[in-house]
Amino acid sequence: MKNSLFIKAALSQETERPPVWMMRQAGRFMPEYWEIKNKYSFLEMCKTPEIAADVTMLPVDLLGIDAAILFSDILVTGEAMGGQLSFEQGVGPRFANPVQNLKDVEALEVDVLDRLQYVADAIRVIQSRLSKLGDQQIPLIGFAGAPFTVMSYLVEGGSSKDFKKTKLFMFNQPEAAHKLLQKIADVTVDYLNMQIAAGVNAVQIFDSWALALSWDDYREFSHQYIQNIISRLNRTVPVISFCKGSSVFAPIMAEAKPDVVSVDWNADIRNIKSKLPQGIAVQGNLDPFVLYADKAVIKDRILRIIERMRGEKGFIFNLGHGIMPDIPFDNVKYAVEVIKEFRY
Ligand code: CP3
Repeated sequence: MKNSLFIKAALSQETERPPVWMMRQAGRFMPEYWEIKNKYSFLEMCKTPEIAADVTMLPVDLLGIDAAILFSDILVTGEAMGGQLSFEQGVGPRFANPVQNLKDVEALEVDVLDRLQYVADAIRVIQSRLSKLGDQQIPLIGFAGAPFTVMSYLVEGGSSKDFKKTKLFMFNQPEAAHKLLQKIADVTVDYLNMQIAAGVNAVQIFDSWALALSWDDYREFSHQYIQNIISRLNRTVPVISFCKGSSVFAPIMAEAKPDVVSVDWNADIRNIKSKLPQGIAVQGNLDPFVLYADKAVIKDRILRIIERMRGEKGFIFNLGHGIMPDIPFDNVKYAVEVIKEFRY
């Protein structure tokens, strides 16, 4: 993988153009995703290695993206620990047995790798498909949810607008919250090390909802556990740390020593990079809503970000958050073409 643009950029080496991949690149904005989704439930898709591989390959084959990301979900760790997980159309993820107190936390299991073996199996199938692409060298990104974000789903029982239950759990039952966060961190270390052993070429930690936290609470209830996870990973592949809130938290994120900080769309990405220690790359940071706009706007906003990063080593083009399901496929394809045609 040494010649992959993505790996080079993740390791802060020079590239002739920025590599590009997009969060949620395999999903509902693709008609080909629906052809599969209409036949299986989302969790069946995740748990059947051949299907997970088919979906993982869609953006590689149809968009010409520079990196593949494993088709799975951040909530499978919560499910393996004992959460009763379902994904319902129009409702999103649901845990039927939300965590409410210390007793509930104590009931969750941590020795659960055998329940996640389907992910290792999927990684092996995907790698055999990617190897058939020959010289292209498309790396596979594995991932897991960060403890705070996974905890929020376990406590809320699903998605939340304001994280009220999660915050009250943290504020009023800190011992239980910390115990839960540490349990998720322990599972995540095993899980990511399993993915690395099975052959992923990079891993990303998703802390999608960190932006709900204050500076102090981010340190105490999120960063501390991400740092713990990263320090225990088998560091044979680059580690990417993503959070929404990175425009504010990037300097703290860097203390956990990831290879790449993934930046949301609020900040000037070059300014964020300048605040990070040498050798930490950045990924980002297009507002995904730009992909709804006219092509001239899409091109302009992409080139602004790329020009801003000119002369900087260690830049991966991505969105500030995931692609929305109703973004036109054509626009996403166009965005990838604009980035791939660019030369510094
Ligand atoms: O990026 C990829 O293409 C890889 C696959 C991937 C999925 N989820 C597939 C998915 C990844 C990396 C994730 C991560 C994930 N899951 C995050 C972190 C990234 C982010 O967007 O913040 C979060 C917060 C989740 C939790 C989750 N899973 C939610 C909130 C939802 C529902 C979203 C919605 O709009 O309904 C899911 C379901 C999910 N995960 C889908 C996909 C393709 C949709 C399932 C379907 O087809 O119905």
